[in-house]
Amino acid sequence: MTVIRLASGELMLHSPCNITAAMAEGISALGSVAHIVVPGNFHHLHAASAQAAFAGAKTWICPGVERRAPGLEYDEVLGDVAPGDWAGEIDQVLVRGARIMREVAMFHRASRTLILVDLIENFTDATPHTGGALKFLFKHILRMWNNPRPAPEYRMGWSDRKAAAESLRRILAWDFQRIVLSHGDLIERGAREVAIRAWSGILEG
Ligand SMILES: [Fe+2]
Repeated sequence: MTVIRLASGELMLHSPCNITAAMAEGISALGSVAHIVVPGNFHHLHAASAQAAFAGAKTWICPGVERRAPGLEYDEVLGDVAPGDWAGEIDQVLVRGARIMREVAMFHRASRTLILVDLIENFTDATPHTGGALKFLFKHILRMWNNPRPAPEYRMGWSDRKAAAESLRRILAWDFQRIVLSHGDLIERGAREVAIRAWSGILEG
C-alpha cells in the first residue's frame, strides 16, 4: 500500500493492504482518507477492509476489477485522465494491451515518484520474506532475480503490443526519479533506466 497526501491534506490509499485497527489509527493521524484506489485488477483483495476502516472515502477502481470482484462496491472507474480530485498533482495512464492484466500507473509530481502495481516486480537478495520456493521460482524459472521485469502474468501475453508500447511510452514521458511498486524492493536509483530495461521487450516491439 502507498499512502499519498494530496495538497488539500486529504489522503489517498493506493492498493490497500489489510487495514488493522492499529494501522487505521496510524493513517488517521496523518490525515483524512478521501480516496481508496484499487489500481490493478489483481489488487482488490483488501479494498473492502479499507472501506470498512474509512467509510467516508470514495473508491476508485481500475477497469476490470468490477468483473474480478463483483461484490466490491465502488464509486468511480479510473481512466487515462486524472479526475479533478487529484489533477495537477497525480497523473495517470491506463495500461492497455495486456491479455489478463490491467493496471493504472500513477505519477506523483511533487515527489517525482512513479507508482506501479505489477508492471515491474523487483526481487533481490535484500527483499524480505523471499526464500525457498519463491526464490527458486524467480531466480531459476522466471529469471527475475536481481532483474526487474513485469509480473509473470504480464509476460504470459500481450493482446495488443502496439497499445502496450504506447502506454509504456506515456509513462516514460513522466519525469520520475523513483519507482514504488507492489512486489519487491522499491527502485530508488536509476529508475528510468530500470524501467526501460524492464520493458525493453515490449518497447522494441
Ligand atoms: Fe500484483
